[in-house]
Parts: sequence; C-alpha cells; structure tokens
Amino acid sequence: MPQAVISGTGLYQPPHIITNAELVEAFNAYAQAHNATHADAIARGEQVALTSSSVEFIEKASGIKQRYVIEKAGVLDPARMRPKFEERADDQLSLMAEIGVDACRKALAAAGRTGADVDAIFCAASNMQRAYPAMAVEIQQALGAGGYGFDMNVACSSATFAIEQAVNAVRAGGVKCALVVNPEITSAHIEWKDRDCHFIFGDVCTALVIESADSAVSADQWEVLGTKLATQFSNAIRNNFGFINRSEDSDPLARDKTFRQEGRKVFKEVVPMAAAHIEAHLAAMHLEPTQVRRFWLHQANLGMNQLILKKLVGAEAGGDLAPLVLDTYANTSSAGSVLAFHEHHADMKPGDLGVICSFGAGYSIGSVVLRKA
Ligand SMILES: CC(C)(COP(=O)(O)OP(=O)(O)OC[C@H]1O[C@@H](n2cnc3c(N)ncnc32)[C@H](O)[C@@H]1OP(=O)(O)O)[C@@H](O)C(=O)NCCC(=O)NCCS
Repeated sequence: MPQAVISGTGLYQPPHIITNAELVEAFNAYAQAHNATHADAIARGEQVALTSSSVEFIEKASGIKQRYVIEKAGVLDPARMRPKFEERADDQLSLMAEIGVDACRKALAAAGRTGADVDAIFCAASNMQRAYPAMAVEIQQALGAGGYGFDMNVACSSATFAIEQAVNAVRAGGVKCALVVNPEITSAHIEWKDRDCHFIFGDVCTALVIESADSAVSADQWEVLGTKLATQFSNAIRNNFGFINRSEDSDPLARDKTFRQEGRKVFKEVVPMAAAHIEAHLAAMHLEPTQVRRFWLHQANLGMNQLILKKLVGAEAGGDLAPLVLDTYANTSSAGSVLAFHEHHADMKPGDLGVICSFGAGYSIGSVVLRKA
C-alpha cells in the first residue's frame, strides 16, 4: 500500500481585521439602537433589553483578540450586522471557490506541484454556499485538475474527516495527489447580533496537498501514520439553515438559521471527549501523548485547549507544545487545526511526531497522527 504524506500547505488570509474593540463598539451601538426602538415593549416586560458586550469578557472567556473577515463594513454597520457580498453570475467563480483556489495554489506551490498533478479535491467546510454544482468541482476546473472532487461538511471537523478520505484514496492507489481545501466564510453563518457568540469566528481558507510518498517531491513531507474519526449526536451546537426552510415558510433571518451553541455545555462535554479520543488513537498505535512533539488542536477556546493538554500530558497549552492561532484568527471552524499546523511546523525535526485534532458540532472529533519525514 502506498504511504500517504502531507507535502504542502496553503493559507488564504482575508484582507480585513476586526479587533475586539471595533466589534464591541459596533455591537453596543446596535444594542443601544435596538433597546431605544423597543423601549415601550421592554418597559412592558414583553421584550428583554440587550446587554452590552465587553472586550475584557471576550479575551478572558475565549483568548480571542481579533479576527480576519472577507468583508468588514457590513459586519460593523449597526443597522446591518452581517457581511455584504455581491451576488455573482453563474459563470463567475463563486466566493468559496475563489478563496479555495488561492489556498490550493499556495499549497501546490509548497508541494512543488501544479493543478495538472491533482486527481482528487475534497472541499470540506462547515457551510456550503450552494447545493450544486460542488465547489470542489469548480475549484478542480479553475486549477486545471483531473480526477474528481466533492464537497463535504462535518462542521468544525470537516478538515480532519477530509484528510482521512484523501489518505485512504492515496493508500488505495486510485489517487496519486489530492487536495483538501477548507474555505470557511464563518462571517456569513455567525449571528453578529448575539453577544454570546458574536466574537467567536473568523474567515480563512486552508489547503493541504496529500499525495503518495513514492512520487512526492516536496522538501517538507509529513507521513500520515493514522487517522481516527468519531461522531456522537448533540444539539449543543446547531444551525437550522437548509433547503427545506422555504417550504416551511420560516423566516430566513430567524435566529435558528445561523450558528447557535450552548457554549458552556460544549466546553464541558467536548474537552474530555477530545482528550480521550487522542489518547485512544495514540494508544492504538502504541504511542504515549508525552512522545508527541506538537499538538495542532482545534482553535475554539484557549481554556479548552489548555484543559485537553493538561489531561493528555499534564502541561499548559500554548507556545511550543500546542500553538495557538485563535488569538489572531479567532475560531476558523474546520480550518483552525490545519492553520495551526500551517503556521507552526517549520521548526520540527525528522522523526518528530505531531497530532492534528479537530472537534465541534455533531459532535464530531477527528485526529491525524503525523511524523516528519
Ligand atoms: C463561548 C464561550 C467563550 C463563553 O464563555 P463562558 O465562560 O462559557 O461564558 P458564559 O456563556 O457562561 O457567560 C458568562 C457570563 O458572561 C455573559 N456574557 C456572554 N457574552 C458576553 C459578552 N460578549 N460580553 C460580556 N458578557 C458576556 C453571559 O451572559 C454570562 O452572564 P451571567 O453569568 O450573568 O449569566 C465558551 O463557552 C466557549 O468557548 N465554549 C466552547 C465552545 C465553542 O466555542 N464552540 C465553537 C464551536 S467548536
């Protein structure tokens, strides 16, 4: 069976930064205007007044200091509170495909490959811009790739679940060179009017080249020693947006048509699940967590990652063992753990072990054990 390696990574970084201060200022202006408009109903007890957000809370509760977004003005407009994108014609590249192509081109260049070398594309993200044709097929055409492509969604675990598909395709021999691409336009699925979650997400797109070790030419290769995926149903993270909505005559802007979560519940339930998952995956490969040089964990919450690390190796997360990117990028959904890998692997030595691990809605957890070749 051919060995699969990760041979290149790429990142699309959006052009705009929103700091916590800017975010809180916009939210508080929105809340103030909302409360003024609904003052009578609030006074009669028919509506609850919105309370203000704060920079201190956001940084302390999450570790997030800023986020990147594709469009900023609409998000920070208290009269709008969502990005403003132009609808594109059918013959134009879609927004998801556009940022996907950018990240893929960078990953291919890092791997010493071109689009013509690619024979499978897995476009994996927590939201899809349309039902079909698949964004993966659009990206395939734009890159001049062959083979096949499809879209897949496993929420925040989309990337690790796609890595397993790509690795299996390479190992089975039918695919020589695959792309896993994670265009996460989270700014369009988050409810910027809800102070409980308005600070959580940011936009990016990551891409990975996964190919057969026999023919890989990159100077920076990572053997995929194993992958392990798991799901367990939970309603604690949910988004009801979907194609049935119009037949239900439901309001497309209703709160349940964007990201919702019971943050504290998620925190408490997912931390032990993720730690046990990684431990079991490593144990099945006769490895101890202390043998792992670096953990590239899902980037949802600083405290979550610290607790997972504590359970695994009894150490604080951050810095060298489990680098954080969420302070700069916020939660970029499925792209987060790949982004941590992209930014923090250059210093590692041949033979070093690492684990990419994502966790999120479903619940879903995916881990990928790597060794620097
Ligand atoms: C979302 C998260 C950061 C919230 O942190 P938390 O410590 O759990 O905070 P809580 O939601 O319990 O809120 C604590 C208090 O702060 C308040 N609060 C919430 N948002 C606030 C804000 N933006 N500004 C100020 N106060 C805020 C709450 O209303 C609550 O007030 P109360 O104690 O009077 O009821 C945290 O739960 C988390 O990261 N969970 C992990 C899940 C996750 O991020 N998943 C994403 C998908 S993988």
